[in-house]
Amino acid sequence: MKNIIEFKDVSKYFGSLKVLDGLNLEVGAGEKLALIGPSGSGKTTILRILMTLETIESGLITVEGKPLWHEKVNETLVPASEAHLQKMRQIIGMVFQQFNLFPHLTALSNIEQPQILVRKVTKEEAREKAANLMDLVGLEDKKDHYPHQLSGGQQQRVAIARALAMDPKIMLFDEVTSALDPELVDEVLSVLKKIATTTDTTMLTVTHEMNFAREFADRILFFDKGQIVEQGLPEGIFTNPKEPRTRGFLKKYITGLT
Ligand SMILES: Nc1ncnc2c1ncn2[C@@H]1O[C@H](COP(=O)(O)OP(=O)(O)O)[C@@H](O)[C@H]1O
Ligand SMILES: [Mg+2]
Repeated sequence: MKNIIEFKDVSKYFGSLKVLDGLNLEVGAGEKLALIGPSGSGKTTILRILMTLETIESGLITVEGKPLWHEKVNETLVPASEAHLQKMRQIIGMVFQQFNLFPHLTALSNIEQPQILVRKVTKEEAREKAANLMDLVGLEDKKDHYPHQLSGGQQQRVAIARALAMDPKIMLFDEVTSALDPELVDEVLSVLKKIATTTDTTMLTVTHEMNFAREFADRILFFDKGQIVEQGLPEGIFTNPKEPRTRGFLKKYITGLT
């Protein structure tokens, strides 16, 4: 499997706070990762760096073999220009805890608009893709509903469809069910599993839903204090975690783990 993402010795500070500490990470094309770990361990920061919403202080990140935060000028790496960042952003889509749909647009229009504005596709093309994606997320009968007419779970499914409409090769999901009432969590997680099994999209998913992580992921990464403490197949991590910090974290989620 070819790597689509590589972090090489990446460090990130907020002021004097070291948030990522020499992080090394390779993600294969099409791989489905679940990122777990305590609050404040740096999970969101990793996704935000990939989304080019945060810079890095040292190290190198490549996406599809090209440096993300740098570009080559006369064979030397220099900080990336805005034009370079814009090009790289097209490879990656992100869905956040808060769905942030446009309130004055229908569900279908919410999915159409970014395609027309950013990707410059025709209205017809955007509409057809939006309709197909509404089917994919199980909302074929809600196309003309406005966000306030939809439940939180349905709004989040529209937000996922909107991100997919840009054809990203990599999708980042940051605790996409954390703002939802418990009874709405499963419908959103089902959509993530469907994307995982029916597309070759590379997926990095931060989640506190351990049963979901176990079913969904090819690989689990346990983070603490800006470092990967332990990683591996779901089966191993969830039944026999090796590191005391992983065990300590998982104890509150998994009964029978001592
Ligand atoms: N914009 C920011 N300014 C200062 N500190 C931040 C900022 N964003 C995150 N942090 C800090 O960075 C650390 C990692 O945060 P984050 O990546 O959000 O962790 P996680 O998603 O694992 O909960 C935390 O200590 C957090 O308080
Ligand atoms: Mg977070």
